[in-house]
Amino acid sequence: MSRGRFITLEGMDGAGKTTHLEWLRQRLSVRALPLIVTREPGGTALGEALRKLLLDSHEPRQPDTEALLMFAARREHIATVIAPALAAGKWVLCDRFTDATYAYQAGGSGMAWERVAALESWVQGELQPDLTLYFDLEPELGRARTRQARVPDRFEREQLEFYERVRAAYLRRAREHPERIRIIDAARTIAEIQLELEKTLLIY
Ligand code: TYD
Repeated sequence: MSRGRFITLEGMDGAGKTTHLEWLRQRLSVRALPLIVTREPGGTALGEALRKLLLDSHEPRQPDTEALLMFAARREHIATVIAPALAAGKWVLCDRFTDATYAYQAGGSGMAWERVAALESWVQGELQPDLTLYFDLEPELGRARTRQARVPDRFEREQLEFYERVRAAYLRRAREHPERIRIIDAARTIAEIQLELEKTLLIY
């Protein structure tokens, strides 16, 4: 049996990631592909508990601590959900993964890039997504879109400069891994973006 495909979605809050994830799930289901949809932080009982802790707390924290918790959840997620699914030939669609730790904890919060790299190699070994769809949007536009949408979590309340740094880190990751990370211009209409996603998926 051939290994399944591992696809991750990334982007600033407000870039439309959730809408496109749902659409991708439907497109892949139409192709009758065995598929699981999961998210980070989360995806396991431990991961969901850590997610609640990380996103609901108002306490300031060291970015290193946040990253260690993200990677603890990720280790469990990979070992018990992602790797077994891929080995069984399933496709895995994951809402955020390690690029988010580079973007938020390193880019946004100033954690050393190399420390994230060390944790990445320790926790993931050779495992990398086959494709990462990065929904790129100017932070100001993203904030304008999310403000009315719902009550912001702890991360979403951070300032605009934080999001500028997050975006710069995502773009750096995309530059460093052009074969894996596809930059999707999220300022366009949903229809235009879906057309691009459809074309991208055809080659997978
Ligand atoms: P997300 O799943 O997009 O939640 P929502 O749809 O409620 O916005 O992301 C949750 C938050 O977690 C987001 O602000 C980014 C943050 N995050 C990190 O800071 N580091 C990480 O490694 C991950 C996976 C997420």
